[in-house]
Amino acid sequence: MRHFEFIDGEMRAEGVALRAIAEQVGTPVYVYSTATLERHYRVFDEAFPTRSVLVAYSVKANSNLAVLATLARLGAGADVVSGGELIRALRAGIPADKVVFSGVGKTQDEMSGALTAGIRVFNIESEPELTALNAVAVSMGKRAPIAFRVNPDVSAGGHEKISTGKAENKFGVAWSHVEQAYAEASNMPGIEIVGVDMHIGSQITDLAPFQKAITKVGELIKTLRAQGHPIRSFDLGGGLGIPYGDNAGAPPLPNAYGALVSRLTQDMDVDLIFEPGRMIAGNAGVLLSKVLYVKEGADRNFLIIDAAMNDLIRPSLYDAFHDIEPVCAPGSDFTETLYDIVGPVCETGDTFAKQRALPPLVAEDLVVIHTAGAYGAVQASQYNTRPLVPEVLVQGDQFEVIRPRPSIEDILSTESIPNWLV
Ligand code: LLP
Repeated sequence: MRHFEFIDGEMRAEGVALRAIAEQVGTPVYVYSTATLERHYRVFDEAFPTRSVLVAYSVKANSNLAVLATLARLGAGADVVSGGELIRALRAGIPADKVVFSGVGKTQDEMSGALTAGIRVFNIESEPELTALNAVAVSMGKRAPIAFRVNPDVSAGGHEKISTGKAENKFGVAWSHVEQAYAEASNMPGIEIVGVDMHIGSQITDLAPFQKAITKVGELIKTLRAQGHPIRSFDLGGGLGIPYGDNAGAPPLPNAYGALVSRLTQDMDVDLIFEPGRMIAGNAGVLLSKVLYVKEGADRNFLIIDAAMNDLIRPSLYDAFHDIEPVCAPGSDFTETLYDIVGPVCETGDTFAKQRALPPLVAEDLVVIHTAGAYGAVQASQYNTRPLVPEVLVQGDQFEVIRPRPSIEDILSTESIPNWLV
């Protein structure tokens, strides 16, 4: 479900014409829909009607303060992976006791910041990390609540760069070490065991890997409890796939995922925590861009647009498919043209789509790249000294710039020439 639709021949984000945003803010620009963010959060939350769950939105997917504040108002928690994301989440109004801290390489500074804030749980990924957290907590006179992120060694499909739940991935405590890790943790004065955690991958389009992993962790919970560990929460991570408009198969709906999880966990007597990212933000955003040139190549036409791989890197990095559409609905009488849709960056990889059929377009036409709300702006860079792409949030018939485009002077002012060169 997304709120980017054609009305009277032109695409709107909720009640706002994308053309109006392009005119006022310029292009390229990310545009997010409040209604879609809210709807996705609610759909996920309501997939668990019979129990209370903590939906800890995975901040890495889209960490703009306005997006976090929108979700905070609905009661969302946050899954953070750095001290910076923790500060964002708190600043946006997400209470510390709804924050879970994930990631394989937390620094001691990040640990002490999170302990001071009073977060809900640290998801610990290795025994050395546990030892470090224990030392930090003891030095602060605190006990750190922890869950181990266990690696259930389940293949979850998806692109190899975002698959996490196999034994060969860097994530989680290896299955064969888990019991030993809990035993060690139970003897540490600065550590309080509260649960178990998993996250098996991202853009998972099939329920079977979830079923396998949950069943495996369910057995583990029984074993750990028999060994005397108080396992009160089970964090199932994120990973639920979303439609990108290609033919890769329809991902399961959140309520099917919810029904499966509820069935598999009903006798476990645990609080459930989830860390959805893409599912909430992905289809809540588009990247709005303008056609700069239409270039006739030797054997194909290129649509050169003003967005590039530094603004949205998913197609270059993961060969990801994103649906691309003109902002003006074409009339009924046209012949589709095949385009390679590319950006201005000096790399062949700066390609959003190859041989994509679109209505004929000319310079100055606006296009949208859909499903860009998750892992879009957050992965942007200033490569080629292209200013970070701005972000706009729409609500109903109003919109606001929630991160402005920096000027070239802004960018240069962060750099300096050392004394010996001036
Ligand atoms: N929890 C943990 C521990 C994670 O590592 C991730 C994502 C999530 C939750 C959220 O997963 P989601 O529900 O969004 O699938 N940049 C890539 C995706 C990387 C995902 C990394 N971890 C992309 O653009 O596809």
